[in-house]
Amino acid sequence: MNEDPWSLAIAGATMREAESGRWPEHAWLLRQSVQTRPYRAMLLSVMDVAAGASIADVGAGTGALTLDLLGHAPGCRVVALDLDAVALEILGRIAASLGVADRVEARSAPAQLTGLPSGQFDWTVCRYLLQHVPDPGEVVREMARITRPGGRVALMDVDDGIDLAYPPYPQPVKDLYAAVGASQGQSGGDRQVGRKLHRLLVDAGLARPVVVFCPHIQAGVVRDPGARAALLERITRNRPQVVAGGLMTPQAFDEALEALRADLDSDRFVMTGEFLAMAWR
Ligand SMILES: C[S@@+](CC[C@H](N)C(=O)[O-])C[C@H]1O[C@@H](n2cnc3c(N)ncnc32)[C@H](O)[C@@H]1O
Repeated sequence: MNEDPWSLAIAGATMREAESGRWPEHAWLLRQSVQTRPYRAMLLSVMDVAAGASIADVGAGTGALTLDLLGHAPGCRVVALDLDAVALEILGRIAASLGVADRVEARSAPAQLTGLPSGQFDWTVCRYLLQHVPDPGEVVREMARITRPGGRVALMDVDDGIDLAYPPYPQPVKDLYAAVGASQGQSGGDRQVGRKLHRLLVDAGLARPVVVFCPHIQAGVVRDPGARAALLERITRNRPQVVAGGLMTPQAFDEALEALRADLDSDRFVMTGEFLAMAWR
């Protein structure tokens, strides 16, 4: 699956940056980008982005979706916008190593106030950002503004409410996931934003919204070392906020993390997922 040359090239260049030791704060995001590629492929397959399209990727990070789009729609150009200049620097390095830097413009700016002209883009996309911001409506309205009439806005994000596990997780692992979700909430985020994407598009004045669910299924033991590392890194980086927010003691966090590490060897069926919602300007 997804072993086309472009995907393999992206994965190789992304993993080189993740393992270079240069970006300790971003290694988890780079690994996550590689791990979640199959789901982005499902999403891209329903987006029908035309060759030569102009696209804005809002909250582009290290470029997971930006890089996919550059291969998916020949000749397209992407403005990759993020608050994090280091993430954009990494994106620039990966794009350069793939020979597509001339089709990406990195822009360090807030998603709520992009500074981009109105009505410019064929597509404006946003993946895994809305779960982090206190007012996602503000971001979606800005996305609608910069999209041309007849263009489309696409949102992709998680919803932790969808989590089927058989057999159930051990209690410390459940507590750990709950604490990490609650911590994101304390910082103004929302890991149940997936179910709200449709409403956000409608409230931004966009037309004919469509919502697609993209399941993530892990059946059996988590064997892939990259998947194990991406999950453990994502959880571990939340330790300071979880502890500072009084959600777990340092000892409880560390014990639960060990329980999670051991649990990756368990034979379990898990389904989580993300939503894609898109609508017309
Ligand atoms: C989890 S990452 C997702 C990155 C990328 N879209 C992906 O799918 O891998 C969230 C990104 O949103 C960025 N971000 C958070 N708040 C932002 C804001 N208000 N404006 C712009 N970017 C923001 C972060 O810097 C980070 O790069």
